[in-house]
Amino acid sequence: MRTSMRTVLAWVLPTLGLVGCMGSQDPVDVATVSEDLNAVPRLQERLDPAGVIESDSTNAFNQGPTSGFSANLGTNGRTCQTCHVIEDGWTITPQHARLLPPHDPLFTPNDGSDCPPISASQGPHKALSSQLVNFGLIRIQLGIPSTANFSLASASNPEHCAVAPGSSGAGGQLFMFRRPLPSTNLIFDSTIMWDGRETLQKITTAAGFQAESPFLFDLNDQANSATTGHAQGSPIAGAPAQADIVAFETNLTTAQSRLLFQPLDLEGAKGGARYITDVLAPAFAVGVNDPLQPGFTNADFTIFQAWEPTSPTYRSLNAVQKAIGRGEAIFNQTTFVIHDVPGLNSIPSNPLYNPADPLAGQDLRGGCAVCHNSPNIGNHSSPLAINIGVTMAEPVNNDGSPNGVLDIARLPVYTLTNGTAEVRLTDPGRGLITGNWTDLGKTKGPNLRGLAGRAPYFHNGSARDLKTVVRFYNDRFDIGLRDDQIADLVVFLSAL
Ligand code: HEC
Ligand code: HEC
Repeated sequence: MRTSMRTVLAWVLPTLGLVGCMGSQDPVDVATVSEDLNAVPRLQERLDPAGVIESDSTNAFNQGPTSGFSANLGTNGRTCQTCHVIEDGWTITPQHARLLPPHDPLFTPNDGSDCPPISASQGPHKALSSQLVNFGLIRIQLGIPSTANFSLASASNPEHCAVAPGSSGAGGQLFMFRRPLPSTNLIFDSTIMWDGRETLQKITTAAGFQAESPFLFDLNDQANSATTGHAQGSPIAGAPAQADIVAFETNLTTAQSRLLFQPLDLEGAKGGARYITDVLAPAFAVGVNDPLQPGFTNADFTIFQAWEPTSPTYRSLNAVQKAIGRGEAIFNQTTFVIHDVPGLNSIPSNPLYNPADPLAGQDLRGGCAVCHNSPNIGNHSSPLAINIGVTMAEPVNNDGSPNGVLDIARLPVYTLTNGTAEVRLTDPGRGLITGNWTDLGKTKGPNLRGLAGRAPYFHNGSARDLKTVVRFYNDRFDIGLRDDQIADLVVFLSAL
């Protein structure tokens, strides 16, 4: 964000006619500039299925001289905005994909189709992209590292691809179907990509704030990989477009700003994107509110405190405000037993047991914030990848019973073995990056802001709506939420 301030100045000052008044060595009066910023359109609002979603760009949506984020930087007609769309919370929804013309570049078969192309000349075709059209999923192909301590025993091929996942025709690569992560609120990221594979330099904290250089290094690499991969272009490493893309996306925050017609920043509430930029971003540090350290609070959402049932004004609020407030209280106060989550507290009978897990073999009583711990943002503030079961071919609950809530039937299933045990996953997650058996199925804890614009949820789009997400957790951790509590929690999540 310090770079962002420079970027802001570079663009805003000429716009406001201030450049001539200031020698290049003059100290900049940040307060004045911030006020002047109010004059430029920092905020953009879009309708989403729950109301209005708002994005705040401290450089007023200026994408730089190359228009990097929306420029055609490759060979297949795609831009970053093909998959990271403002009204979809900066990812892309299945509804959006369905509305596109049949040959839109989104459906390019390098990764926009269910199967790899069968000829080099195969173009985009919506009819071949059911995973995108139904679940908003992109096909990510990765191989098993040569150093891995596990191997592929078998792979299913539910789409009957001519080039099957894991086959020699696919160079041994597995196909993972993943939702584009939102290219916004990035300043809170403790790791980049679902499996952390773009966290090439460990993201750290300096002076109470994210140190810029590793974070920017990682995002620069990510922008380059996205250009060569998704857009099938030449590398942009070191080119002006790369810097423009990273400046644009790191200056962006996004949140719901209205639920139905209810503004979310009135009567003491602090919803909306601007509060994220102005208050929450400067307060964030990697590892903040760590559940494994003293001082952790499960009550990490306070933006709707004024609407919670304990607020003196609660009785005078309208029904939407009250439901949001009740939902926030449920998020903050409900605790449950977190059992057998590899990365956190795997148990010895789990084939993926890792005695090095922070709480190996021990149950933990906690709430949603154990993993969604970044205050008022909800991503995992430390880069601890975990496996809550969403990546497994047969997700199970605390008591070992099957969790049948998620829609995962059409995903390929990979049976992996370490020589003594086997596990079945739809996505090996972090395990494909480190090559470690015990990292199989681990993903990151994503940001919870701007959720309403970006259904379906989880990395594989297996929860069609927020109610399905909450039902998954209610069964997974045997939480015991009643239907009215589920409804309130869903309203709260929709207001984020
Ligand atoms: C074809 C669709 C597609 C295009 C085009 C695309 N992305 Fe993505 N993006 C994805 C997917 C899918 C993921 C998640 C992949 C994963 O984690 O394995 C992702 C992840 C990201 C992330 C990680 C966010 C986080 O919190 O970890 C960033 C940043 C990002 N993309 C930026 C870009 C930029 C910049 C461009 C243009 C150069 C771009 N994307 C083009 C699909 C796309
Ligand atoms: C033990 C850790 C853990 C707990 C507890 C937990 N989550 Fe999650 N949450 C995750 C992880 C990890 C993911 C990403 C999983 C994936 O998609 O692979 C996730 C994903 C989500 C998503 C989807 C976000 C998206 O962009 O798709 C929502 C919404 C969510 N969690 C809400 C909650 C709520 C509400 C609770 C409490 C009832 C909760 N979580 C409890 C770890 C946790």
